[in-house]
Amino acid sequence: MSSELSLANVTAGYGEFVILHSVSLEVPQKKITALVGPNGAGKTTTLKTIMGMTRLREGNILFEGEDITKLPTYRRVELGISLIPEGRGLFPSLTVRENLVIGAYTKKAREKIHESMEIAFSIFPKLKQRLEQKAGTLSGGEAQMLAIARGLMSRPKVLLLDEPSQGLAPVVVMELFQAIKKLNDELGITVLLVEQHVKESLELAEMAYVMEQGSIVMKGRGSELLADPSLKKAYLVY
Ligand SMILES: Nc1ncnc2c1ncn2[C@@H]1O[C@H](COP(=O)(O)OP(=O)(O)OP(=O)(O)O)[C@@H](O)[C@H]1O
Ligand SMILES: [Mg+2]
Repeated sequence: MSSELSLANVTAGYGEFVILHSVSLEVPQKKITALVGPNGAGKTTTLKTIMGMTRLREGNILFEGEDITKLPTYRRVELGISLIPEGRGLFPSLTVRENLVIGAYTKKAREKIHESMEIAFSIFPKLKQRLEQKAGTLSGGEAQMLAIARGLMSRPKVLLLDEPSQGLAPVVVMELFQAIKKLNDELGITVLLVEQHVKESLELAEMAYVMEQGSIVMKGRGSELLADPSLKKAYLVY
């Protein structure tokens, strides 16, 4: 399995605060990788660091074999990395269509906007019926689907998803996870998934990492970690 994205001994944080301590992580190409761990472990910080939105002190980030450690965020987006942030970050007073258009903000993405919308609808067909609806009036599940669809508008090779299932009812979570699987299977998009639903995300993921207090404490295939007694105990996964 070749890595599309990797972090090598990354130490990073905010201003004077160091949050990630020598984190190494491999995200294999065209697979789903899960990153789980308790609140405050540094999962969001890891995703922000991949986007170049934190203060990196040591270590390197590689994307398709290139060192992107010093690139600004917009260049990382142009190269094909897209972050769907925690809390979705939609514009509530804009329509579904307008939110999607905003997702295609790089020059390359603007040229492919119609094709990209059709791709997004192939994964989230419900959005097509709601194009003129204000994003603020969508249900929680629909809003999350729009957030991911908007991320697809930049035509990413790697999608970083920060707790997409937050606040959603179990049946909607299942639907969302199926959509994530579909965009991985059918569009070949590599996924790094941060989740609180540990069991479901480990079932979905080829590879998985457990982070605690800014360090990776366990890694392995999703199925292996699911079977690990210490993980079961820590995360009450049965
Ligand atoms: N802008 C910031 N400035 C200083 N510290 C921050 C900042 N953002 C986050 N932190 C701290 O970094 C640590 C890790 O936070 P992070 O959001 O990465 O955790 P997380 O694993 O995503 O948690 P959760 O599951 O609650 O989302 C926390 O102690 C948090 O308070
Ligand atoms: Mg978080």
